Amino acid sequence: MSAYTPKRLKIYIYGAPVLRKKTAPVEKVTEAIRRLTQDMTLTMYDDDGIGLSANQVGESHAIFILGASAFEDDRGDSVFLNPEILEMSEETELQEEGCLSIPGIRENVPRSLTIRLRWQDLDLKIHEEIFTGFPARVIQHEYDHLNGIFFTDRISSVRKMFIKSKLSELASSQS
Ligand code: NI
Repeated sequence: MSAYTPKRLKIYIYGAPVLRKKTAPVEKVTEAIRRLTQDMTLTMYDDDGIGLSANQVGESHAIFILGASAFEDDRGDSVFLNPEILEMSEETELQEEGCLSIPGIRENVPRSLTIRLRWQDLDLKIHEEIFTGFPARVIQHEYDHLNGIFFTDRISSVRKMFIKSKLSELASSQS
C-alpha cells in the first residue's frame, strides 16, 4: 500500500505553451512519476474526463492515463508510458470529442477505427495491443496531446473557422 494521498492538479488550458510542446520520453519511473499518475487520475475523475495527458497538468512527459470507462473490458484505470502508434487503419470514423483543456467546445473528429499501440507500464514492461472503436479514439486523442496536437487541429476547415474566435478567447485568457 502506498501512503501517498493524491492531490488535484491544475489543468492547463488551450493557449498554454506546454500543450504545444512535444513531451519527453520517460526513461526512469521515479516516485515523482508514480505520484504524478495518481494525481492525474484523481484530477481526471474530478473533472469527469475519460483520459488525461501529463502535459495537460503542465508536466512534459510522454504519459497519459485512461479511465476505466474508456475500455470495453474490465482492465480499469490504466497508465500508458512512452506510447507509440505502430499502425492505424485507413478506415476512419467521425465522432464528437471534447477536451478538459478546451472547455465548452465539442466537435466531430475523424479518427482511425483501429490502431496498434505499443507502450510501457509503470514497471517499464512493454505492451502491444490492437484497439478498435472508442478505446482507439481516446488513445489517439491523448497520443495527440503528447505531440502537441489538439482535436481542434483535426476538424474540418469550416468548423475551424467557426470556433476560431472561441479558441482565441480561451488562449487570451491564459496570459
Ligand atoms: Ni484532451
